[in-house]
Amino acid sequence: MQSDYMHWAKTRAPVAFPLGSSEVAHFRMDRWEIDPAQLDLDGASYYRYAPLREAIAAKEGVPPECVVMADGTSMANMLAMAALIEPGDIVLAESPAYEPMVATAAHLGAEVRSFTRRAPAFAIDPDALQGPCKLIALTSLHNPTGNLADEVTLRAIGAFAERWNAHVLVDEVYLDAAATPQRSAATLGPRFVVTSSLTKVYGLSGLRCGWILAEPVLAERICGSTNCSASPRRIRPSGSPASLWPGSTRWRRAPLPCLPATGRWPTPSSPAVTMSS
Ligand SMILES: Cc1ncc(COP(=O)(O)O)c(C=O)c1O
Repeated sequence: MQSDYMHWAKTRAPVAFPLGSSEVAHFRMDRWEIDPAQLDLDGASYYRYAPLREAIAAKEGVPPECVVMADGTSMANMLAMAALIEPGDIVLAESPAYEPMVATAAHLGAEVRSFTRRAPAFAIDPDALQGPCKLIALTSLHNPTGNLADEVTLRAIGAFAERWNAHVLVDEVYLDAAATPQRSAATLGPRFVVTSSLTKVYGLSGLRCGWILAEPVLAERICGSTNCSASPRRIRPSGSPASLWPGSTRWRRAPLPCLPATGRWPTPSSPAVTMSS
């Protein structure tokens, strides 16, 4: 598997003013309130670090059972697609596209068909989608144009997916940079699978803190696949009080199954989450 674009981006000669960069200035560790020397990196490898998962669930407006951790959005996209498509399935991908998403679908053996986002707005026209398909893959904010897919559009795409028994994968790694805050597409129903991370809007690319939001049964399946692709870890200040890291003691003592079966899908009227950066 190769992404020609990423290969170019990682091997091109450095320039003084890299206008192609897509993330905010890196957040330096000396700005943390925690002393990095006190971080405990050698915890046991459980499926999910409960406090992080709960924090992401609260931020995104979904139950914790819907959250699966991944090493960045890149891995999140790979894990989500691996769970959703099989060789020969048709994936509808936006054009222009973030090329690694297309490369991932192709790598998994999908037949990728593109639908065009037309200039000048580059908004998605749901009528441009043509079935059948197993997955519709898009970014919001759109890479490369920054177009926000509004909820009316997303719901129309969701209805299209429903008709074809398909899923909608929305890469929301830039969503928190939207001029008008918008809740995650994951809150719109079980057809939607969302990926994101702390890379772009928070300047924490080195942390590789990414996640997938999916309905609980699918999330469980994706979570199981992380045994073959990643080792979910926990980082916590050594000796920090349990009140700072709720659930961490319980988590350490008793490895939990991937998901407690308490998931409840949020209703469409769930309040939007206020984004902060
Ligand atoms: C749309 C999109 N998704 C994912 C990524 C990669 O994000 P991460 O560093 O979280 O893997 C990028 C990086 O350019 C991106 O533009």
